[in-house]
Amino acid sequence: MKNFRMSVVGLLGVTLLVTGFTGVQTAAAHEAPQGGKAPLRALAERADLRIGTAVDMAALGEDTTYRRTTGREFNSVTAENVMKWEVVEPARGTYDWSGADALVRFARDRGQVVRGHTLVWHSQLPGWLTAGVADGSIGAGELRGILRKHVTTEVKRYKGRIQQWDVVNEVFEEDGSLRNSIWLQKLGPSYIADAFRWAHAADPKAKLFLNDYNVEGVNAKSTAYYELAKRLRAEDVPVQGFGIQGHLAIQYGFPGDVAGNLARFERLGMQTAFTEVDVRMILPADAEKLATQATYFRGLLDACLGARSCKSFTVWGFTDKYSWVPGVFAGQGAATLLGEDFGRKPAYGAVREGLAEGR
Ligand code: G3I
Repeated sequence: MKNFRMSVVGLLGVTLLVTGFTGVQTAAAHEAPQGGKAPLRALAERADLRIGTAVDMAALGEDTTYRRTTGREFNSVTAENVMKWEVVEPARGTYDWSGADALVRFARDRGQVVRGHTLVWHSQLPGWLTAGVADGSIGAGELRGILRKHVTTEVKRYKGRIQQWDVVNEVFEEDGSLRNSIWLQKLGPSYIADAFRWAHAADPKAKLFLNDYNVEGVNAKSTAYYELAKRLRAEDVPVQGFGIQGHLAIQYGFPGDVAGNLARFERLGMQTAFTEVDVRMILPADAEKLATQATYFRGLLDACLGARSCKSFTVWGFTDKYSWVPGVFAGQGAATLLGEDFGRKPAYGAVREGLAEGR
């Protein structure tokens, strides 16, 4: 187990210039991440790992440094928003695949794989759907047909071009009970197995994942996933992977027994992946917090590299410039590998070193 083997002292040795309340400026701003040594993806390939990032399509379109870095550093991409239901079917029967198509093309041109995110979720549903369920104009029978059509249509469209799909996202509460979403309320728990079967029928080669946050270590929620996965697989439901989002915060400590958690899913014959890693902190950032953050990134990466089942490690954005964190957690941020100016933070060095050391 290689967790935390990088020394904090070593991290503090990285020259930093921390400025401002909202973000981090880095000394390496002008040379990184274009200059110097091999990019993350080159190191990851040697370690038999896909290193990925969530992609903000607006940033990809208008920020050339963002675009160049996405192509240079990563060999896997995930749509941060453009494959979600509210984006792809804003009006019933009217589809907008422009963002998703653009990402899949971008990836193909750069030899990257794509993680599909996400088919069944309680959030970012289109207004026509939630309104129809709320006013009773869409009943349970119709809702099941709508969900089946959504899953089938989206998976078929990208058949052969998506390596891993997050089929159901965030279906459990923290205590391990099923989330009281419209899916559970109207369709009952069988919607989960149905979604996997529909996705598998649409693209038999894509690896199909469960995905959630706060399931890094062994706890009530991750145990609920373990029991669910065991049951589904015993029933021959095509679920092949467990996705651990990895949204951490240094003020809450590093999760317990990540390696043990990965190992139990591996024993079920499943793949595992870290799918949305970022590590936020209470602002302002300082050298000590950034050093701690680096050990958290490294801890998750080492857990992945230490597990045969874990071949994909994705960060939820790579620059603080476009991170979702400050918009949702007031007073928190600096959660990614690069500063707002794209300069490398200690976390970048930690991930780089971890990849270079390999499995
Ligand atoms: O695109 C619209 C824009 O047209 C509109 O003017 C603007 C006004 O609010 O909203 C824009 O949409 C926003 C979208 O991000 C794109 O920027 C949504 O409001 C905003 O809610 C949405 O937030 C996303 C969030 O999921 C939604 O729940 C974040 O970017 C995204 O990082 C986040 O990702 C989730 C994963 O999918 C699942 N796991 C947790 C993770 C973090 O919350």
